[in-house]
Amino acid sequence: MKDRNYIAGLGDMVGSAVTLYGWVSKARASGKIAFLTLRDGSGTCQCVLEKGDATAAFFDEAKKLAQETSVRIVGTVRADERAAGGVELHDITEFECIGGSGDYPITPKAHGIDFLMNRRHLWFRSQRQWRILRIRATIVDAIRSFYNDRGFVLIDTPIFAPAIGEGASTLFEVDYFGEDIFLAQTGQLYVEAACMAHDKVYCFGPTFRAEKSKTRRHLTEFWMVEPEIAFADLDEVLELAEDFVCHIVDRVVAKHRDDLESLGRNVADLELVKKPFARITYTDARDILHGSAARELLEKDLGDKTERVKALGSKIEELEAGRASAKKAWQIEKAAQEIQAAREERSELEEQIVNIPNHIKLASEFEWGTDLGGVDETIISRLHDGPVFVTHYPKEVKAFYMREDRADGRLVENFDLLAPEGYGEVIGGSMREEDFDILLRKIKAHNLPVENFEWYLDLRRYGSVPHGGFGLGVERTVAWMCGLKHIREAAAYPRMMGKVYP
Ligand code: 4AD
Ligand code: MG
Repeated sequence: MKDRNYIAGLGDMVGSAVTLYGWVSKARASGKIAFLTLRDGSGTCQCVLEKGDATAAFFDEAKKLAQETSVRIVGTVRADERAAGGVELHDITEFECIGGSGDYPITPKAHGIDFLMNRRHLWFRSQRQWRILRIRATIVDAIRSFYNDRGFVLIDTPIFAPAIGEGASTLFEVDYFGEDIFLAQTGQLYVEAACMAHDKVYCFGPTFRAEKSKTRRHLTEFWMVEPEIAFADLDEVLELAEDFVCHIVDRVVAKHRDDLESLGRNVADLELVKKPFARITYTDARDILHGSAARELLEKDLGDKTERVKALGSKIEELEAGRASAKKAWQIEKAAQEIQAAREERSELEEQIVNIPNHIKLASEFEWGTDLGGVDETIISRLHDGPVFVTHYPKEVKAFYMREDRADGRLVENFDLLAPEGYGEVIGGSMREEDFDILLRKIKAHNLPVENFEWYLDLRRYGSVPHGGFGLGVERTVAWMCGLKHIREAAAYPRMMGKVYP
């Protein structure tokens, strides 16, 4: 639309006549004034229509527009301190309904998560989801600019993969003209080959894992960026990861302070993310889990959560009493929403309270040689202020390609980066085994078909070099940046076990 102005730009246009195109999220009238809340993709703006000669032709239609009607509206920008964005639209001279609406399913009242997930194609029009997806777009842009500005070459790796990339348990099989192949779990092996051609490379795209458990951290389809660098050691790979994460955090905070605050994200916690990050080994992590600080943390959680459940109980009673005595429909509606929110919080807490004694036991009995679980990671990250690198895991719990620690053959030279505040592992990475004989032995030890990895072994036949890299999961990073309780809000169309619509 040639004559179109955007809400995001109205701050600089006070006093000017503008033409907005967008969707009405709310229309209400009081006597001779109607208020339309308009969103146009760039922002939200209140439009104020006063019934008079100029608006006579459309006032009655406009004041009762159904939620999500699309419109064209012409008016003058007026500064208003109280308005979101500091401006409103007044002196409306033209108004046109473009696409009608009615019975829009997502109303301002509270909806259950299944209801919303089944309407994801509409749900992401709502403010909160809109903000999250814009932050995601910034994160993706920050990822690309970080590597492009540092001379990394982008390599697009295949999604149809004939061999295992990470582990056998999470493969999606595909019938490829009669041949059993898989959806890529990672682009890493392919990007390693490209590293030997371009030195610094990265791949960035969707990856797939048949995660059979429903957790708040796992999707079956997620985006991962995987840089790979040659002639490097573990320290250099860790430094790259550190600079990379700081770059993402800086960009998100610089561009989205308002969005983060509206999401209820504590921006100060993100501003604490600074180099250098804490570095501990897997064995240190085991000691932390066995120690008294871990036990005290969980015992304190138990106490705090029990208190909170009690407080919520009284709050719910009060709200119910308020609802019973309320006279106006909006008061009843508001109380009902608050009751639902409080009940949801209480039942989540009650579930957590039941689990805490078990977590205490599991942490105290954590055995060297097993992988760190989600709860273990949460404990470790909460006992640190910023992100934490956990390095040098036992080789049994990690992928076949990881470089054996030459100083201790039980370990590999790898790391996970645990995000603060319990957001869990956002990066997994390692040095890659560059020795032909050791790699071949490991492929066999993992019962992998050597013929599928001949091309990968070629990288160790022709000018093998020490090299390493890592993978950062976009949705986990979005969940962390935005402070989301569940990863499902971090993707436009999340894919999880039992969830592929729409
Ligand atoms: O630790 P992972 O499995 O590492 C790799 O795939 C390596 N090939 C990366 C490399 O060295 N090039 O996965 C890396 C990251 C995790 O830290 C996490 O952020 C994300 O990918 N991730 C998932 N995100 C959402 N849902 C899942 N099911 C995920 N699995 C891994
Ligand atoms: Mg991992």
